[in-house]
Amino acid sequence: MTIKTVGVVGCGLMGSGIAQVCAASGYKTIVREVGDVVLQKGLGRVKKFLDDGVAKGKVAPEARDTTLANLSGTTTFEALKDCDLIIEAIVENLDEKRQIYAGLETVVGAHTIFLSNTSSLCITELAASTKRPDKFGGLHFFNPVPIMKLVEVIRALTTSDETYQTVFAFAQSLGKEPITAPDRPGFIVNRLLVPYLLDAIRAYENGLGTLEDIDKGMKLGCGYPMGPFTLLDFVGLDTTYYIANIMFEEFREPAYAPPPLLKRMVLAGRMGRKSGRGFYSYEK
Ligand code: 3HC
Repeated sequence: MTIKTVGVVGCGLMGSGIAQVCAASGYKTIVREVGDVVLQKGLGRVKKFLDDGVAKGKVAPEARDTTLANLSGTTTFEALKDCDLIIEAIVENLDEKRQIYAGLETVVGAHTIFLSNTSSLCITELAASTKRPDKFGGLHFFNPVPIMKLVEVIRALTTSDETYQTVFAFAQSLGKEPITAPDRPGFIVNRLLVPYLLDAIRAYENGLGTLEDIDKGMKLGCGYPMGPFTLLDFVGLDTTYYIANIMFEEFREPAYAPPPLLKRMVLAGRMGRKSGRGFYSYEK
């Protein structure tokens, strides 16, 4: 099937990045947020990224203008009625996601594909909460969305072959490198990344080294772009804690159990870069 108009629900860090890459790839893109203030903040993030890209010589001024012309914002479901494909990128809350799908189903056509950018919820469970379980899948992007090349395409038990093929081709059309991941907690990347990050916290708690030395070790010794604690702060400690809990609940293996320090940092509000403090301080 041909995708021309794309909807994105949620204009936070991930949603705005997703909307940006869709608009940059030539799709008419409409991004929906609950209120105008958050919407304008998200659209402002897209504009800043593109302006910075022009200043760095990475984005042509015409490409920036075309991307912004393809992109519009809304606070209604009605504005998404003509979308061929809608990517939901809201908070990781099953009930809130269900409410979004129910709202969308009152306006869209029967052909519209729904995708979730969830990093950990069960795609089959999300699909089953809609009236289109065959036209539902997971499309998991990585932060920062405009820069990271990978997306994971996840089939629910109910996803049809046609939907899967359309979504895979759509991901390629965004200039991304898709891989097919199973509908299991963490899919492929977080399944391997999260235990590594949790292990780094446990090792730090056990006195393996300073935060700086562990980060430096993994960055310079293994060629990773960021050490584990810089990456934890970048991803968000609350996000990591949330994913770890879902993985531990499903697999019951100690490797996925969130370490006590992670839990306490989240309880103390130290979420990483976004809260100004995580393992490192970002307060100015
Ligand atoms: N417009 C266009 N291009 C831009 C740009 C802009 N505004 N800003 C930066 N870029 C380009 C740069 O030119 C550069 O391109 P090049 O490699 O061709 O020269 C590239 O993007 C990298 O940008 P910077 O030089 O500004 O920054 P760094 O080199 O410091 O890289 C980083 C930053 C990409 C964030 C890197 O540190 C990294 O890859 N970190 C790891 C990120 C990661 O692991 N993400 C996944 C997290 S897990 C996840 O998201 C899953 C979830 O479910 C938890």
